[in-house]
Amino acid sequence: MDRRNIVLTGFMGTGKTSVGSALAKLLGRKLIDMDTWIAAREGQTVAEIFAERGEAGFRELERALIVELAASENLVIATGGGALVNPENRAAFANARVICLDASVEEIVARLNGAHDRPLLRGDKKARIEELLTARRDAYNAIEMHVNTNQRTPQEIAQEIVNRLETREILVKTPDSAYPIFLGNELLERVGEFLRAHKFSSRCAVVTNPTVGALYAERVLEALRAENFSPVVIEIPDGEQSKNLDTVRELYDQFIASKLERRSPIIALGGGVIGDTVGLTAATYLRGVPFVQIPTTLLSMVDSSIGGKVAVDHPSGKNLIGAFKFPLCVIADLNVLETLPTEEFRAGMAEVIKHGIIGDAELFGELEKWGEKETGKQGDKVSGRQGSRETGKQEIGELVERALRVKIEIVERDPFEENVRAHLNLGHTFGQAIERLAEYQMRHGYAVAMGVCVAARLAANMNFCDAKTRDEIISLFEKFELPTKIPREFSPEQILDAMGTDKKIQNGKLRLILPREIGRVEMVSDLSEQAILTALNESC
Ligand SMILES: NC(=O)c1ccc[n+]([C@@H]2O[C@H](COP(=O)([O-])OP(=O)(O)OC[C@H]3O[C@@H](n4cnc5c(N)ncnc54)[C@H](O)[C@@H]3O)[C@@H](O)[C@H]2O)c1
Repeated sequence: MDRRNIVLTGFMGTGKTSVGSALAKLLGRKLIDMDTWIAAREGQTVAEIFAERGEAGFRELERALIVELAASENLVIATGGGALVNPENRAAFANARVICLDASVEEIVARLNGAHDRPLLRGDKKARIEELLTARRDAYNAIEMHVNTNQRTPQEIAQEIVNRLETREILVKTPDSAYPIFLGNELLERVGEFLRAHKFSSRCAVVTNPTVGALYAERVLEALRAENFSPVVIEIPDGEQSKNLDTVRELYDQFIASKLERRSPIIALGGGVIGDTVGLTAATYLRGVPFVQIPTTLLSMVDSSIGGKVAVDHPSGKNLIGAFKFPLCVIADLNVLETLPTEEFRAGMAEVIKHGIIGDAELFGELEKWGEKETGKQGDKVSGRQGSRETGKQEIGELVERALRVKIEIVERDPFEENVRAHLNLGHTFGQAIERLAEYQMRHGYAVAMGVCVAARLAANMNFCDAKTRDEIISLFEKFELPTKIPREFSPEQILDAMGTDKKIQNGKLRLILPREIGRVEMVSDLSEQAILTALNESC
C-alpha cells in the first residue's frame, strides 16, 4: 500500500479512534487521534477548551494540527467529528486517503450513552445528534469513501478499509470508451456499489451455475439488494457441454419471464464458460443489454473476462458462434480462488504462463521462481492451489494483475482481432483441436498448455526460437503440473485433421502463433503440414 496518510472521519460515536487503532495495528502505522493530541498539547480536555475558548477557539487548534499532519505521511489519523466539515480542512487532506465512517442514529445514541464529555451534545442527546448530522450531511457526503460501522467490530471495519484501499481499478480502453477491472479482496460484497454509478433498472439477473451459485450467489444478491436492485438468479448447468445455443435459448426464455429490460444489468458469476455463454446472450437479448463479469476462476480472471470476446461452441468446433461484447465492468475478487479446485487453479496458471510467453518475460521469470520461497528448493513442483495459499494473496494478486495487463495491452491495440490480438491464440489451434477430439471433456487450460508446448517444439524445430526457449517453456508447465504431452489416444494425423475447422485458417493456409523468445511471439504463415506433423509426433 502507498504511504499516503489515511484519515478517518465521521460523526462522533462512529468509531474513528477504535477503528483507527485497529487499522494502525494492521498496517504497522502510527495513529494520531486528533482530539487526544490537541488536549495533550493544550493541557486541557476538549470540553475545557470549548468552555474556555468556545468552538471557534477549538477549531483553530484543529486547523493548525491538520495543516501540520497533512505535511507528513504513513499515518492513520482519526479526526474529531467536526474537523472536516470545513471545506478548507478537507482540501488540506487532498493528498490523503479520506474515509468517512457511518453509523445509524440509534447506534450512535447507544454508543454515546453515558458519554458526558461531549460539549456539542448538551440537552436531548438524540435530538442534538439528529440536528448535527443534518447540518453536517453535505460535508460528510463530499467524502468519496464511506464505510458502514453498524453492528461491526473495529477489527472487521479496519479489515474492510484495508481491502478497499488495496482494490486496484484497472481501466481497459475500448474503441468507444473504457471499462474498469476491479481487482482485490472481498469484492463480492461490493458488487452493488460498483453498479450504483450506472443508471440501471433495478431489475437485474445474476447468471451462474449450481457449483458457483451455491458458494457465492447469496453474497452477490445481498450486495445488490443493499443498493436497491431487485435481482433474479438464473442457473445453467456446470461444464463446457452447456456452452451452446440451447443454453442461450434457455437464457432468453428466462430473461423474458423475469421481465428483464434494456437497462437491466446481466451479471455473469462464474468461470469462462459462464462468462462466454452469458456474454453472448447479453450481446443479443433486446439487441444488447448491460453485461458485468464476475470471474471466479483464475483462467477467467486473467483471460476470458477481459477483451469482450464471447461465444458458444458448435458441434463443428469451439467458440464458432460468437460476438464482441465489452463488459461494463469486471469484478475480480481474489478471495473466490480459495474454493477453486487444484486442477482448475492449474488450468488458470496455463493462461498466466501463456501471457508471460506472449508479452512479459519478467512475469515468466517470476513464475519460474514461484514456490521456491516455500520449498527453498529450485525446480520443485508447485501443487496448484497449495501454491496459492502458501504464496499468499498479495502475490497472487500481483501475478493476476501482471497476466491481465499483457492481455489488456494487446486488446487495446487490436480490439476486434484484426492483427496483433491473434498473438493471444498461442497454442490455441492445437489446443482447440485436442479439446474437440476429447469432446470437450478436457479443461481448456490443460489443452492450452499442451498446445503451447507443441508450438514451442515446432518453433524450435524451425529454428524460429532456440532450444533453450522451448525447454524453458516446457519445464515451466511441468513445474505447475500441467500436461506438456498430448494423450496417446489422439494421433498426430487426427489432430491435424481436427485443426481444419479452426478459425485461424485463412484461404486454406494454416497460420500459427509461435514463440520467438520468452516475452515475444509472432505469426507464421504457410507452415508445411510435415513440420506440424513432426512437432505433433514429438508431442504425443
Ligand atoms: N472469451 C475469451 O476470451 C476466452 C478466453 C479463454 C478461455 N475462454 C473459455 O473459457 C472456458 C474455460 O473457462 P474456465 O477454465 O474458467 O472453466 P469453467 O468456467 O468451466 O470453470 C471450471 C470449473 O470450476 C468451477 N468453479 C468456478 N469458479 C469456482 C470457484 N471459485 N470455486 C469453486 N469452483 C469454481 C466451475 O463450476 C467449473 O466446474 C472455455 O470455454 C474457454 O473457451 C474464453
